[in-house]
Amino acid sequence: MGRRSHKGGSKLPLLLTVGLVACIIVIAALAILLIVLKKPESPSLAPTSTPPSFNPYSIQIQQNVLEQTKIGDRIREAISASNIRTNLYQLTGRVHTAGTPAQLETMMSIKQHYQAIGLDAHQYDYYPLLDYPDYDNPNTVHYQANNDNIWQLVSNGTAQPVGPPEAIKQQESDPKAQVLWNAYAKPGSATGAIVYANTGTADDFAYLKGQGVNVTGSIVLVRYGGVWRGEKVYQATLNGAVGCIIYSDPQLYAPPDGSNVFPNSMYMPPTSAQRGSLSQVNGDPLTPLYPAVNYTYPTETEQDLRSTMQLPSIPTLPISYGTAKQIFARMNGLIAPTNFTGGIAGVQYRLNDSTGVYRIVVNQATRIANIRNVVGYLRGMDEPDRIVMLSNHVDAWTYGANDPNSGTATIMEISRALMQVVNETGWRPRRTIAFVSFDSEEFGLDGSTELAEEYLKVFEDRVVALVNVDLIENNVTLAAISVPLLSRAIARAAQKVPNPNPDELALNRTTVYDSWSYYYNLPQLALVPDLPGIGLPGSESDHAAYISYVGVPVCMILYTCPYTVPREQCFPLYHTMLEIPWAADNLWDKQYSTMKALGSVWIEMARDLADSVVIPFNVQDYATFLTNGFHLVSELLLRDAQALIPDLSNILSSIEGAIKRFALQASEIQNLVDKANSGSESYTIRQVEMLNRRLNKLERAFINPRGIYDNRADARHVVFATSLENSYEGVIFAGVVDPIARAGQAFAANDYPRMKLQIIQARRSLSELQYAIESAILLLQLDGFADQS
Ligand SMILES: *[C@@H]1O[C@H](CO)[C@@H](O)[C@H](O)[C@H]1NC(C)=O
Ligand SMILES: *[C@@H]1O[C@H](CO)[C@@H](O)[C@H](O)[C@H]1NC(C)=O
Ligand SMILES: *[C@@H]1O[C@H](CO)[C@@H](O)[C@H](O)[C@H]1NC(C)=O
Ligand SMILES: *[C@@H]1O[C@H](CO)[C@@H](O)[C@H](O)[C@H]1NC(C)=O
Ligand SMILES: *[C@@H]1O[C@H](CO)[C@@H](O)[C@H](O)[C@H]1NC(C)=O
Ligand SMILES: *[C@@H]1O[C@H](CO)[C@@H](O)[C@H](O)[C@H]1NC(C)=O
Ligand SMILES: *[C@@H]1O[C@H](CO)[C@@H](O)[C@H](O)[C@H]1NC(C)=O
Ligand SMILES: *[C@@H]1O[C@H](CO)[C@@H](O)[C@H](O)[C@H]1NC(C)=O
Repeated sequence: MGRRSHKGGSKLPLLLTVGLVACIIVIAALAILLIVLKKPESPSLAPTSTPPSFNPYSIQIQQNVLEQTKIGDRIREAISASNIRTNLYQLTGRVHTAGTPAQLETMMSIKQHYQAIGLDAHQYDYYPLLDYPDYDNPNTVHYQANNDNIWQLVSNGTAQPVGPPEAIKQQESDPKAQVLWNAYAKPGSATGAIVYANTGTADDFAYLKGQGVNVTGSIVLVRYGGVWRGEKVYQATLNGAVGCIIYSDPQLYAPPDGSNVFPNSMYMPPTSAQRGSLSQVNGDPLTPLYPAVNYTYPTETEQDLRSTMQLPSIPTLPISYGTAKQIFARMNGLIAPTNFTGGIAGVQYRLNDSTGVYRIVVNQATRIANIRNVVGYLRGMDEPDRIVMLSNHVDAWTYGANDPNSGTATIMEISRALMQVVNETGWRPRRTIAFVSFDSEEFGLDGSTELAEEYLKVFEDRVVALVNVDLIENNVTLAAISVPLLSRAIARAAQKVPNPNPDELALNRTTVYDSWSYYYNLPQLALVPDLPGIGLPGSESDHAAYISYVGVPVCMILYTCPYTVPREQCFPLYHTMLEIPWAADNLWDKQYSTMKALGSVWIEMARDLADSVVIPFNVQDYATFLTNGFHLVSELLLRDAQALIPDLSNILSSIEGAIKRFALQASEIQNLVDKANSGSESYTIRQVEMLNRRLNKLERAFINPRGIYDNRADARHVVFATSLENSYEGVIFAGVVDPIARAGQAFAANDYPRMKLQIIQARRSLSELQYAIESAILLLQLDGFADQS
């Protein structure tokens, strides 16, 4: 109304009317043309006859499997190993830690790459709280013997370059690379006697306590293994330590005898050490749940975060095992038990020491820093608002030739190969493919979490799936972490890619899938039978917020070692300055064929997810997974909680009933998905849309908007959310399992009020789990589907 009176004049409305009429005529003509083109067999549709009632949604579409196979083959053939090598060298020329000018330049070079190959490139900036060492004044360890007033320097806080001249040159190309530190360590100094606490688990500290070893006021020395490094510092703090030193023991990092190390192998030399973050928080610690942009009020302070131990409250630093050897050599206390004894040759592992005291000095400071995600979009032809994301982070502690730039060099090349084929053929996928380069994964999944927080409403609506690659850590086999909806898509892609490893080929494992299913043949772990053992998504990498907060189906694929090899041993150079391209050339991917193979699986998954007529999820696998997973949890609950929850068996059978109904619904929709995607049947546009809308929302049915329990507003997925009682790997049904574990702890501590609260929480989580399953059933119902044929 206001518009009409404001414009006043009579010309404009008239012009509009004329324009409108012209438009209608053009549209009508186009519609008729379309009908004539689409249905040449109907001669009765003469333009002069009564206007036909044409419904564009009734057009049938059919998957052209042959054509899609050809496109997929062609994209994979376009991937060049030598381009990957060139990319890797360009990315790893200097230290590019998040929030530094070097890293912003690296992100801009990726944005330029995405633009140059023809993608629509965007950047997303955030300002989280990060942390840096004083590179001119590294952290140090000192020792003072009893009855002596001299402080001896034990560690000057640097790693030493090793290897042949070319390798040394790469290590020395940026002096910052040598500096050893752990992000967010409490700055300052700490002095105390040394106590060795093995891997720093709660059990290890309990053992020390049992032996009467006094941890209070000590500097705790721990080795890698068992639990995540932040957990070690947390446990040390809980047990009264004033400082913490972490090292990588040769037992895991340089077996069997520590002699065959870098540059002869990928094993860690005695002068090297692992860096890494100690933040317990995912995303910017100051702005939980909201993007770290300038309109957001920071609800947390660094001081509070340290006092609640979400950030460390004691000085902490890494040392090499060469330095740890000097410390052990001086110790005079209790002899360590076998399970505390590592692989440093020539020393006795001991628990405590009375020969003198140690002082550690941490010169670090936090600051709000600028991070930048970069995304390159190829807009989909038919469903541009449905986005398939391929993601990888770019920031590194040092040069990052494995973590993460093996993935970055690969994503740059597979995006180029895809665009080459788009240019050559004019083909474009049905849905949008987004190449997502995240910043600041290393500090605490900042880039991915902040993007998920800012775009929550958009991503809930539009993101179909996220396929994450963090790094290539070894060259033996593919491995995967995945939600059940995507597991079979990984398998389909892996079956199409030739095995890149000559040793595996010689054993007749001809495809990537063959080695994977051989080394990950883990029936005891496989919740979905007839697939290789697949891990559950937790907070390992950038997929975390997407599954547990937004509810996007996610997976992470990587190249690694057989399941039986511990992760530390598979990739001992992790977070050292030996992550240089020289090592790729000479040690772990001499032909760049591993990166090429992983890239082939990755882009084939993108093609499949973005171009199949119906989103190629396996809903039936979700049902199988829920059936088997819930069975395991039920057994656990019946064992541990029968006495605590009186009506437990009724509750469990009610949920089992819901899962059974979900399985029926799943098999009905799966039947349609399979028929559509095998090309054996065609469906109308409306029917395809009905299926895709349901599939795209399915994972979101498992999101509990309140969070799985108190104080877990960021963990909303009732099946996949990281357990706080075991944060090292993904655990299912943490909303139920954690309160039961805590009720047990409260019971053991005779804290009955707390026990009661935890039981109520478990009871509530069980009903919210059933609610999610019921929601998924309602969401999948296909009322009216047949009418749309
Ligand atoms: C694809 O075509 C666009 C437009 O001509 C061009 O800018 C881009 O570099 C091409 N991409 C590749 C990978 O050839
Ligand atoms: C640090 O100590 C190592 C020996 O552990 C030594 O090789 C190196 O030169 C020292 N660096 C500095 C800057 O003093
Ligand atoms: C290590 O061994 C000691 C002595 O045998 C045992 O009491 C303790 O429970 C073990 N600790 C762990 C963490 O396995
Ligand atoms: C442990 O050591 C601290 C610091 O030296 C001391 O204050 C405390 O009394 C000791 N505790 C025991 C039980 O000896
Ligand atoms: C917030 O950031 C935007 C974009 O960088 C800038 O234009 C604006 O001035 C900033 N506002 C404040 C209050 O700092
Ligand atoms: C180590 O701890 C034990 C148990 O408290 C104690 O008896 C012993 O004196 C300590 N040894 C040293 C060298 O501090
Ligand atoms: C691989 O297959 C070939 C041909 O089938 C066979 O001759 C050879 O023995 C097989 N090698 C192994 C290690 O199984
Ligand atoms: C794979 O890695 C191992 C070391 O882990 C190495 O010996 C082997 O040569 C590598 N293979 C290729 C093809 O790079």
